[in-house]
Amino acid sequence: MRAMAEIRNIVILTGAGVSAESGIDTFRDAGGLWEQHRVEDVATPEAFERDPDLVLRFYDQRREAVQTKVPNDAHLALGRLDAGWNGKLLLVTQNIDDLHERGGARRVLHMHGEHLNAWCTSCDVRSRWTGTLIERPACPACGDHALRPDVVWFGEMPYRMDEIYSALREADLFVSIGTSGAVYPAAGFVQSARDLGARTLELNLEPSQGTALFDKARHGRATQLVPEWVEQMLG
Ligand code: APR
Repeated sequence: MRAMAEIRNIVILTGAGVSAESGIDTFRDAGGLWEQHRVEDVATPEAFERDPDLVLRFYDQRREAVQTKVPNDAHLALGRLDAGWNGKLLLVTQNIDDLHERGGARRVLHMHGEHLNAWCTSCDVRSRWTGTLIERPACPACGDHALRPDVVWFGEMPYRMDEIYSALREADLFVSIGTSGAVYPAAGFVQSARDLGARTLELNLEPSQGTALFDKARHGRATQLVPEWVEQMLG
């Protein structure tokens, strides 16, 4: 395990807990329901095939809501860390909101996609999208009416896994923030990071499912823990 002073390369994984204090609901706090919907009804390819209007409307509402939210002190602190950290840094997020970017972070990888993108299943081009999809608008690239949310649904492959694992291979420190550790492959990153020799730290409201795998864990609100940790890192 690396000593603190030797830390150059950091991989951070964030989940819904980092955006909770910006008013975006987490997934696993309300009896398995996500915004009053069962996940299987809105976040699977089968759901989209069965009832595309339900799924498109659901994401249209979330896309609209996310644009009314603002980054909190945890996002802002991670933005400062990204700007001030001279070593390598990769902020892998499971979140599909854009609050890390609006909080100033640049080295962000959205492994579960982005609310503010639409993906054309006809030409495979992704376009920045702030409006609605329910009316089946034309793809700006090819003109076909085959846009869907650019979101990784259950049963689909998360994005850019090769980049994530190569960053984990180089990481001296892996930090997991605001994620329950319930959804793979992200939940497995801590084990990979450990196996590859990185130190591991958890910052979460409560112990996550994988909490025993971390060298250190601090439990509390992200808006308190993350700025404290960032100040320590930028020292
Ligand atoms: N500060 C820190 N942690 C918090 C806060 C907070 N203010 N509020 C909640 N948390 C913690 C919860 O205790 C929980 O452990 O954040 C975690 C959120 O867990 P989940 O709701 O399971 O969210 P996440 O881990 O991001 O889910 C992973 O599941 O449905 C999918 O694709 C979706 O990306 C998502 C994935």
